[in-house]
Formats: sequence, structure tokens, C-alpha cells
Amino acid sequence: MHIFKEIAPLRDHLKSLRSGQSSIGFVPTMGALHKGHLGLINASKNHNDITVCSIYVNPTQFGNPEDLAKYPRTLEQDIDLLEQASCDVLFCPSNTVMYHRAEPLTISFDKLDRILEGEFRPGHFSGVAVVVSKLFNIVQPDIAYFGQKDYQQVMIISKLIEAMKFNVQLHVVPTVREHDGLALSSRNQRLSVDERNRATVLYQGLRATQQGLIQGLPLSELRTRVAALCDSKGVRMEYLEVVDQDTFEVKESPTRAVILIAAYVGNVRLIDNLVVESQDEIA
Ligand code: PAJ
Repeated sequence: MHIFKEIAPLRDHLKSLRSGQSSIGFVPTMGALHKGHLGLINASKNHNDITVCSIYVNPTQFGNPEDLAKYPRTLEQDIDLLEQASCDVLFCPSNTVMYHRAEPLTISFDKLDRILEGEFRPGHFSGVAVVVSKLFNIVQPDIAYFGQKDYQQVMIISKLIEAMKFNVQLHVVPTVREHDGLALSSRNQRLSVDERNRATVLYQGLRATQQGLIQGLPLSELRTRVAALCDSKGVRMEYLEVVDQDTFEVKESPTRAVILIAAYVGNVRLIDNLVVESQDEIA
């Protein structure tokens, strides 16, 4: 695997590869890699000649300085995992490389960046959109791979590609979960053993909401139930919402919906979601 910390040598390397008509798949990450990230690398390996991964803990998408400081950083182990996955190129820039001397830039998305995650993490999606724009311009991939785990992020990236005319196809990869349903996340590394066990309540809450919607129960009642379920495990639910998969409008019916949850397990904030196509899903 070729590893680059600077932009110009990476561009030169990719230019020489691209001249042979190779397709480039790109997996942007913040590192502390797990099987969810590796699923994206594998998807890219299956579709492209060259797979580029980036590892960069982007400060502009963190509103909370403690969350940024405590974000797990495991570069040596990440490099081993990427080598094992036969990733071709790793880009791991410093803050200076990504932001030095650049004017602070923000990107807004009308309502989409102010609801759900955007409401509780103001400025988060602007930070994501800015860094992903920079990374797209640096790598110029043919296809970029994002996880369904961050559903609202996928919506933001899709709008970004459309609005900025990036010549990039977006591929969305399903959420990878532990055996008990907990979605893999780099932040899981910050959980104690006890918190890790209690964290399964997010997935249980999503499933209970799905069943309840199918039975025709109102969302307000389901929200109260799931909040109580979380409470019983010492987990503080921040939001539980049901929105249309494509428009993100609030929905009460379970068809083509996505159920989204955010909750604090100890000091660690986790998110998850469940995509529901139709009533057949849980038959
Ligand atoms: P990060 O949280 O490292 O996630 C990188 C990619 O891995 C994202 O597309 C995310 O949705 C995906 N991912 C994480 N957990 C997953 C799981 N359990 N199953 C499937 N995919 C999973 O998301 C970011 O980094 C950043 O916001 C980034 C896009 C890199 C911009 O800084």
C-alpha cells in the first residue's frame, strides 16, 4: 500500500494510475477502523481497479472539543488492517495540509443540516461537506463509498455531489452490526464493558419502533416507550424520529421510512438507524 501525507505526491501518483483508464474507488474515514469501514473498502475493491482510503479526524465537524480530543486514533493498527484488505493507497493528511491558510468556509443545506443530527450538532454537516469536498477534489474518485450507518450524512453527500457537480458516483453500503445488533462505530471503543452491553438498547429501540409503527401505534407513544426502555438501561435518548427515506419529511407510516435514533451511553454519543421498505420486512 502507498501512504501519502501530502497532496501533491498523492495527485502525481493517482495521475499516473489514472492514465491507464483505471477506475478509482474512494473510502473517506476518520480512522479507528472496524469491520464497517472494511466493508466499504471491500465494496470499492470489488468495483474498481484502485482503492483509496483516507484517514483524517476532521476538526471542523466536531462541535464538542472533548469529543474531538477523545476520538480514538489508532493509525498503526489501521495501516495493518488496510494492508490486509489490500487497499492500494492511504491518504492521511495533517490539519495543516487540509486547512492551512484557507479561509474558513461553511456550506449549508437549507433544512437538512438543521434537523436530527444537525439540530443537536450545529455546524457538523457543514464541516463534513467542506472536508469531503476537499477530499473529492484531491482524490478525484470515480465512485465514493459511504455507510448507511450515517444515513443523514449520505443524504448530505448526495446533495453535495448534485449541487457542486462533482463527477463522483455515490455508493451506499449497508450497516455492519455486532451479533446483538449494535452498529459498529469507532466511538464504541470508548465504551466500558458494561456500557457496551447497555448500548444494544439503541437497536432494540429501533426494532420496537418498527414493530409499533406496523401495528399502527402513534410515533409519540413509541418515542415515550423507547425513551423509557433506554432509561431502564441508564441510556439517555436524545431523539427518535421517523422520516421518509428520500425526502426526510416526518412520517408516521413504516413504508419506505427510516427510523433514526441518537443516545448517550455514559459520555459517548451513539447514532443508529433502521431502513424499512414495507410491511413485508418483518414478516
Ligand atoms: P467515519 O465515522 O470514520 O466513517 C467512515 C465511513 O464508514 C462513513 O461512510 C460511515 O457511514 C461508514 N461506517 C461507519 N460505521 C459503519 C458500519 N457499522 N457499517 C457500515 N458503514 C459504516 O463518517 C465519517 O467518518 C466522516 O464524517 C467522514 C465522511 C470521513 C468525513 O470526515
